[in-house]
Amino acid sequence: MKLERVVEGRGPVVVLLHGFPLNRAMWDAQREGLRDTFRVIVPDLRGMGASGGAAGEASMDLLADDVIELLDAEKVEGPFVLGGLSMGGYVALSIVERSAARLRGLMLLDTRAGADSPEAAQNRRALADRVEAAGSVDEVIASFLPKVLGKTTHAERPALVERVRQMMGATAPAGAAACLRGMASRPDRTAVLAKLDRPALVLVGEEDALTTPDESREMAEALPQGQLEIIAGAGHLTCLENSQATTEAIKRFLEKLA
Ligand code: MLT
Repeated sequence: MKLERVVEGRGPVVVLLHGFPLNRAMWDAQREGLRDTFRVIVPDLRGMGASGGAAGEASMDLLADDVIELLDAEKVEGPFVLGGLSMGGYVALSIVERSAARLRGLMLLDTRAGADSPEAAQNRRALADRVEAAGSVDEVIASFLPKVLGKTTHAERPALVERVRQMMGATAPAGAAACLRGMASRPDRTAVLAKLDRPALVLVGEEDALTTPDESREMAEALPQGQLEIIAGAGHLTCLENSQATTEAIKRFLEKLA
């Protein structure tokens, strides 16, 4: 399906995939910081933001196929750098598994390569059913908002907490439910890391309680050309909570590749 997206700037292509239950606006600061030297492509994934099209279960592979279709539609022929935060990272790893030859480099932010535990998957599917039945994402917000932001953000940045709440609230219930089921069913892609012969940045907030700095270090070590960046004062949503440090880390990585 055709994804809604923003495409800006000229230069080597960088694709940024957002997390759950969010949308492309999450990357606004990075898009602004990169567009003078890169062609930045930032979609709303299926079911999220302005892209509809999700019902039942939206697998990470399906979301990845949409992104590949988008890149073909945008005539991206040369190698590109792919970045994904959290759920965006799950989608990115599906692309890596099937299309690594098209990549110039990979950026995994606040994400993991492993699958959900059976219990976590069951909880997600139960939440998806309740969201659908209620026709509201209120319970998703109540569950995710406390976890995705770091303690510094919760204590010191009420306006950012409110912005993230609103971003989450703009997600369609059907889309949220479909992506929850898709995340619950995703396979373990740890083995994909060791096979990637491309430079890879693993970036994580020092206060990220969902995908921790320790887990991120393990991912960076599993990647043959992996490097780790830890972002101060940020939880799981590094690109929003410390947007400047995140943009700078991404830029350093991209400039080394160019
Ligand atoms: C996200 O930020 O995309 C989600 O926290 C991912 C997840 O729930 O596994």
